[in-house]
Amino acid sequence: MFFYFANISSWLNKKYCTLSKDFYKTKNMNKNFWLNKAQEWPICALAPMDGYTDSPYRQVVKEIAPNTVVFSEFYSADGLVHSKELQKKALTHNQKEYPLIIQIFWKDPEKFRDAAQIIESYGITWIDINMGCPAKKVVKSGHGSSLMIQRETAFKIVEEMSKAVSIPISVKTRLGWENHELLIDFCKWLQDAWANLVTVHWRTYKQAFTGQANFEWIYELKKHLNIPVICNGDILNYDDGIKKMNNLDGFMIGRASFGNPWCFLPWDYTPTLTEIIQTIKRHGDLLWEMKWKKWMLEARKHLVQYLHSFPWVKEYRTNLVHVESPEEIHDILNRIEKEHSELLNMRIKSSTKESYETAWWCEC
Ligand SMILES: Cc1cc2nc3c(=O)[nH]c(=O)nc-3n(C[C@H](O)[C@H](O)[C@H](O)COP(=O)(O)O)c2cc1C
Repeated sequence: MFFYFANISSWLNKKYCTLSKDFYKTKNMNKNFWLNKAQEWPICALAPMDGYTDSPYRQVVKEIAPNTVVFSEFYSADGLVHSKELQKKALTHNQKEYPLIIQIFWKDPEKFRDAAQIIESYGITWIDINMGCPAKKVVKSGHGSSLMIQRETAFKIVEEMSKAVSIPISVKTRLGWENHELLIDFCKWLQDAWANLVTVHWRTYKQAFTGQANFEWIYELKKHLNIPVICNGDILNYDDGIKKMNNLDGFMIGRASFGNPWCFLPWDYTPTLTEIIQTIKRHGDLLWEMKWKKWMLEARKHLVQYLHSFPWVKEYRTNLVHVESPEEIHDILNRIEKEHSELLNMRIKSSTKESYETAWWCEC
């Protein structure tokens, strides 16, 4: 095992000795940019979530909590290189989403490099590499979490991308494959390959979606790195993130934000039903503006989740599942306002683990 690591270290040393001084200067500027940002204010991020964190949802989050750093859903680097249609779908955005991070997955460094150049040309702030997805299909093809055990490829990907673009590159990964033992070395090497930030989900690949939250190894990791480190996994809201981040530079929230973009605001902010209704209307309008009808229909799952803490409006949630146009969304919500005016100023907390897990799995 020792020889394996020693070999990788010497391989890395050889590689980086060949990079020019100008390269180091630019990369240092970028590294300092995010480090400074993290020192001004903790990085509070919307997690990348396939099927959820599209441009309309990211805009909704930024309109409510402008300090949030938003990550896109993951896109295949290969797809971005070969499909103009995917480029348009994935990279079209609104300026209010800045700083916007596009996440990509794949396995060949060359594809990552080419995709990075395309992403940069769209004015995106930063690119994140998926080295944590545990889905069977993804791992079997050598993408996502499997890069944690194909380390040479992982470092080469970061290196190729860093050389090819001047925007920062970050990595989202997990505690490890089976346990945390290689986390510190893996992330140190990513840092040496010019990763500008790492996000670590406290679960290992083997744990997939199970286990009890434990951030201790991520706190330990931070002591060994100079770049910002963000933690992720089962964080309920901004206040919970501040409590859990400890010595880290920030935190990332995923599922708890479904139907609750207010979770990115401090002081456990709970919206009134009126605010929720306004936000559903806005979200529906943005989905309609930015996506064609087919995707609008797929996006109904977002809309119903906003109302999951109001049991009295169950019937309207069922109607929202069948909407076909923004007018229908507005009609349903106007009916709630008219028929349940007594609920409009009511605030109901939804930021419990049970509530978002039920919301995520429920069909309606
Ligand atoms: C529906 C869904 C889709 C996801 N898609 C991605 C993805 O595209 N890229 C990624 O790195 N992680 C993805 N994840 C993982 C999340 O980013 C996050 O790491 C995970 O949900 C744990 O955080 P949470 O407990 O705050 O939700 C996804 C999770 C969910 C629930």
